[in-house]
Amino acid sequence: PRKIIIDTDPGQDDAVAILLALASPEEIEVLGITAVAGNVPLHLTEKNARIVCELAGRPETRVFAGCDAPLNRRLVTAEHVHGKTGLDGPVLPDPTMPLQDAHGVEFIIETLRAEPAGTVTLCPLGPLTNIATALARAPDIAGRIEEIVLMGGAYFEVGNITPTAEFNIYVDPEAAKAVFACGAPITVMPLDVTHKALVTKPRNDAFRSLGTAPGMAVAQMTDFFERFDREKYGSEGAPLHDPCVTAYLIRPELFTGRHINVEIETASDLTLGMTVADWWRVSGRPANATFMGDLDADGFFALLTDRIGRL
Ligand code: BDR
Ligand code: CA
Repeated sequence: PRKIIIDTDPGQDDAVAILLALASPEEIEVLGITAVAGNVPLHLTEKNARIVCELAGRPETRVFAGCDAPLNRRLVTAEHVHGKTGLDGPVLPDPTMPLQDAHGVEFIIETLRAEPAGTVTLCPLGPLTNIATALARAPDIAGRIEEIVLMGGAYFEVGNITPTAEFNIYVDPEAAKAVFACGAPITVMPLDVTHKALVTKPRNDAFRSLGTAPGMAVAQMTDFFERFDREKYGSEGAPLHDPCVTAYLIRPELFTGRHINVEIETASDLTLGMTVADWWRVSGRPANATFMGDLDADGFFALLTDRIGRL
């Protein structure tokens, strides 16, 4: 299996991404989960990460708290999407599994140094603060990363927090800029892909019909998560942004994209946090990321439902 660290700000869609990873031990070994401030503040994201591990029946998973604020900006949160707890929808018990003592950034650095070079993949599902802080503190780790597979950004689908920016990149654009410049192989799941991963009514029913606690929780989380997108965009279901990352590790052939140059806007007020993706390769700048553009949605949901059913 591929060894990964999930860096996350749960978030209902983060939760589903974590469940998918924990349900797929043949393909994925979760070395640890690092929480970051994003959808909700850090004290909630680290708690939510532990709630999700217990829901998966995997309380031995190591969960670390990372950075509680962006590198040099004030935290912007998204309770308007995810609810007050970040995980609104199902009623899940408070976690009893421990939070690890080490800081999430230290865990990322130490793991990349301890494991053989090129064998650990980072999976950021929130603002890139933890990853950028690790890279700044320990520049030697960049060359040891197998791949960074992240959810963030947008091209044709432009923005969801401003007209031109996607939430994860917008919250900490300086961190995103550092990550996109770090030289490690990067694969990006932008809104262009994730807005095709919609939990329609039949797909929601399929989770519910699993008849298990994780299946029911996923159905309730996506029910809650859907409200916002339906009202706002008239979308036919909740977009499962972050699970695209963990699905890619299991079935990469479900996704197609282009290896292109992607730069992050950090100066302009108007377009702060925009992922300037050179889709048509007009800039002459070197490619630094594989930017996904399309997804086999039926294949994605078949995989997800099957795996959630194994928990
Ligand atoms: C991203 O922002 C968060 O609200 C979601 O969890 C996802 O990671 C989508 O823009
Ligand atoms: Ca997220």
